[in-house]
This record gives sequence, structure tokens and C-alpha cells, in this order.
Amino acid sequence: MKPQELKAAVDKRRTFAIISHPDAGKTTITEQLLLFGGVIREAGTVKGRKSNHFAKSDWMAIEKQRGISVTSSVLQFQYAGKQINILDTPGHEDFSEDTYRTLMAVDAAVMVIDSAKGIEAQTKKLFKVVKQRGIPIFTFMNKLDRDGREPLDLIAELEDLLGIEGYAMNWPMGMGKGLAGLYDRVDHRIELYRENEAGEKYLPLDQDGKLNPREPLANDSVYTDTLDSIELLNDAGNQFDLKKVMKGDQTPVFFGSALTNFGVETFLKHFVEMAPAPGPHKLRDGRELSPTDPNFSGFVFKIQANMNPNHRDRIAFVRIGAGEFDRGMDVTLARTGKVLRLNNSTEFMADTREQVQTAVAGDIVGLYDTGNFQIGDSIYAGKDPVEYEKLPQFTPELFMRVTPKNVMKQKSFHKGMQQLVQEGAVQLYRTYTTNDYILGAVGQLQFEVFKFRMQNEYNSEVVMTPIGSRVARWIDPDQLDEKMSSSRNLLVKDSQGLPLFLFENQYAERWFADKYPDVKLTAKL
Ligand code: G4P
Repeated sequence: MKPQELKAAVDKRRTFAIISHPDAGKTTITEQLLLFGGVIREAGTVKGRKSNHFAKSDWMAIEKQRGISVTSSVLQFQYAGKQINILDTPGHEDFSEDTYRTLMAVDAAVMVIDSAKGIEAQTKKLFKVVKQRGIPIFTFMNKLDRDGREPLDLIAELEDLLGIEGYAMNWPMGMGKGLAGLYDRVDHRIELYRENEAGEKYLPLDQDGKLNPREPLANDSVYTDTLDSIELLNDAGNQFDLKKVMKGDQTPVFFGSALTNFGVETFLKHFVEMAPAPGPHKLRDGRELSPTDPNFSGFVFKIQANMNPNHRDRIAFVRIGAGEFDRGMDVTLARTGKVLRLNNSTEFMADTREQVQTAVAGDIVGLYDTGNFQIGDSIYAGKDPVEYEKLPQFTPELFMRVTPKNVMKQKSFHKGMQQLVQEGAVQLYRTYTTNDYILGAVGQLQFEVFKFRMQNEYNSEVVMTPIGSRVARWIDPDQLDEKMSSSRNLLVKDSQGLPLFLFENQYAERWFADKYPDVKLTAKL
């Protein structure tokens, strides 16, 4: 590709993830987006909930058993001249560290909130990771077709619970059975929930933001109430500030109903206009790498194993940071210096795998891996070595004690354990005094995948004893006194030998903090 062609192709990319609490409507909205992108023709095909659509694919056996998608996939489509890449972030029981790592590979995030429930636990966790990256966050307040909370409350909650300013791009006119439409503050029109008698979907607003007084809706209380709210927002609400939006300090808020496909296209249109194209990436040596650098490079943010049980293959998901990817190209793996030929790449669209020929910065490619890659690895094609910044570590919340079932099979146990931990499938800790193995994860499924893979790939049956949910806090080794350890705060070492306490709960942590006020406890992301 010529430099101008590469620049044009990169500028078209919009790569983002949708973050939400389970059941807020992420799948439903994704389906609507795919409909607009012309990828699917009817809703209900992404996660044919009742038809168990995913069972048709040849992903991990465990995935088949559960009928869910274990790790995130990538959906691609074109909209308004842009190439959209949506990285799926699993929400339900399949929540894992991969969900967090996926957020390292996107340029923006969309936060879907159930307007009856407001901000829920999982949204808060995912938000924290996105916020730390300083990328733009767009909000969709969903389920307007049901009675929900006051829109002003929902906006206030963004500020109170997440610490991000909200700017309402549109405003609901009623909700539930009384939903009449959306007052669009940007396009200066009202989007009707149901077409009016003339079959109109939109009613224009005049310069003062008012309807033509002859319009029947102009005499309705749902309209006059909305005008009051808009006045309040204009006078006392946040001012729109694109710079703040780009840094993730302000979130544009859209209201709508994914199920009835109301407000979704308005959201998509504005999102595509505002969301950034891929930008420069920080490298480990402090340099910044432009996405239009002619030499291909990228980093592995996720490895999915055994997608095809017949081949025992693994797929390394690579976010392209710069340049253009071509099938068959040679790249160097920065960690080892090994040269690899990339002739087997896949791209994901819904649940079918398609071969990709070329892709550019901003795109995700899946590479068949025979054991070369680790999470966080960088690959590059030019002469100059390129190493992307390290991926952050996340604080696990669930813990298990693990031992081999057959003590005679220590060797395969240790090999499997070492490789799976290195791959990032789970995190490993050792108890301070007895050196017992403790596994840590952010989602229960990570343990199940670990157990399954230990048996299937390393022929090692393991016994796992739950320790349950714990609050992990690292402590400065110089401040550590082994007497601090008690039954309520298990003392362990992480894979780098750094000490941390696994507190039974927040109360135990607070008790500790009161008892040792000078000791600094830190959480990872
Ligand atoms: P998730 O991926 O975030 O977990 O949520 P999903 O889209 O699966 O939606 C969760 C439930 O909420 C689904 O209902 C879905 O139909 C419903 N839903 C999504 N968007 C809206 C909306 O705008 N309005 C209303 N009223 N409901 C919405 P379900 O009964 O759990 O699923 P299903 O079996 O009926 O499909």
C-alpha cells in the first residue's frame, strides 16, 4: 500500500468495545449495529439465545457444553464509509481477564446501561479499566421502552459513581408506555417513537429548539416537560467539550431502546463521527509509534486455545498498532528475536471464521499459534525492533487452592501450570510459609478453563479447593512483618515474588488498615 492509501485506510478504522453489566442489552444493541452494517438481516443471529447458535461453531469443547462464547470475538462491518471493528467483551459467567485485556486493544468504548438499574457492578469494573487508558467513552442508556429511572438521576450517577461528566446528546420524551420520542440536542429535531399520521419519523425544531406550534405534539405535556428539562440542561448542565470526550473525562450520553431499535442509529451515526481513528501507541522504550508507520507491528492481547479440538490449535489475537498486515509476511517476535512467517490468519465475523488477506492499524487479526506467542508479545516486520508497552496486571477477586490429583504426576502438573500461567489463563500465587499453589482469577470460568486444559493438554488432573472471593492488596516488602498475617488475611507471593495479602473481605482490609495505619496497601487495576 502507498503511504496515502495506508493513511486513508487507517483513518477509516473505528475499533471499540461495548462494556456493560450482564443483561443491560449489549447483545441486543450489537445485533442492531450489525443490521445497520448490513452484516445480518434479522435480529437474533448473534447469540441465538434459545437456538444455541454458538454450538454450531467448533470452539472449545467447554464452550459447547455451556453454549456460550468463552472468549471475545471481533465483529467487522462498514458504516458511513468507516470500517467498524467491535471487540466483544464477554459479560456473564464467561467474564475473565481476557475481558479486561480486550479493552487494551480498542480506541473507544461504548457503555450500555439499563436505564431502570443505572450503573451496576460489572460496568463499574470495566469502566475503571477503560478510564485508566484515557480513551473516549460513549454511553447508551437502554430500555427506554420500559419505565426507568429519571434521566437526570442517571446522568448524575455517572458523575457520582464513575467520576465522569455526562453530556446528554438527546433527551427522552417520556418513557415506558408514555415514550413519545427523543429530543435531539445535536441534530435539532425530535425523533418520534412511533411515526405520526403523516408517516414522519422526525419533526424539525426551530432555532430556539421549539416545535412548530401547529404540531399536535406541541400541546402535549410530554413535550412541554421535555422543554423544561432541556432548559435546565442548557442552563445548569455540563457544556459539551470534545477535548474532554477524547480524554475520557466527559461521556456523550444517548438514550434509546435497543430492543425496539429506537435511537440506535442516531447513536451509531454520532458515534462514528466522534470516535477516534487509531492513534499513536506508546512503546516500551518511551517512543510513540504512528499507526501510519510503514512497517507492520502489533501486540498480542489474547490467546484462545483449542478452538478446534481436532487440531489443538491456539489463536493469538493481535491488535495491529502500525502499518499493514499481509498474509505470508515475515515478522520478528520481539521477546525472542525469532522470525515467524504469518501465513495463517483468521478474522472473526459473528461465529464464522474468514481468512484475512490484508489488514491495517486498528484491525485485529487472529494468528494460528503453535506455542510461540504469549500475552503481551509484540511482533514487527521492519528492521527496527518494536516493543509495545506492557499490558497491565489486574487484581484477581476469586481464589482457589490447587494440587495435582496424582502426586506421582508432578512433572506434567508443573509444566501445565507454568505454561497456562505464562499464557495468562490464570494468575498464580504461592502461600508465604508453605508454598502452596493458589490460583487467582477475575471470573469463575478461568478456573474451569484451567482445569479442563490441564487435563486435556497436559494430562494432569487437578484438585481445586475454593478459597472464595478475596480482596487482594500488595504490600511493600520492606513494611512486611509476617506477624501481620492471620486467618483473615492470607499472605502470599505473586509470580514475581512480591508479597500481598488476600483479605477475607473489605472489613478485614479496613481492620488491617486501622491496625497498621502506616502500611501502604495497593491494588492493581
Ligand atoms: P447482554 O448481552 O447485555 O447480557 O443483554 P441482552 O442483549 O442479552 O439483553 C438482556 C435482556 O434484555 C434480553 O431479554 C433483551 O431482550 C432485553 N433487552 C435488551 N434491550 C432492551 C430494550 O431496549 N428494552 C427492553 N424492554 N428489553 C431489552 P431476555 O428476556 O433476557 O432475553 P430473550 O430471551 O427474551 O431474548
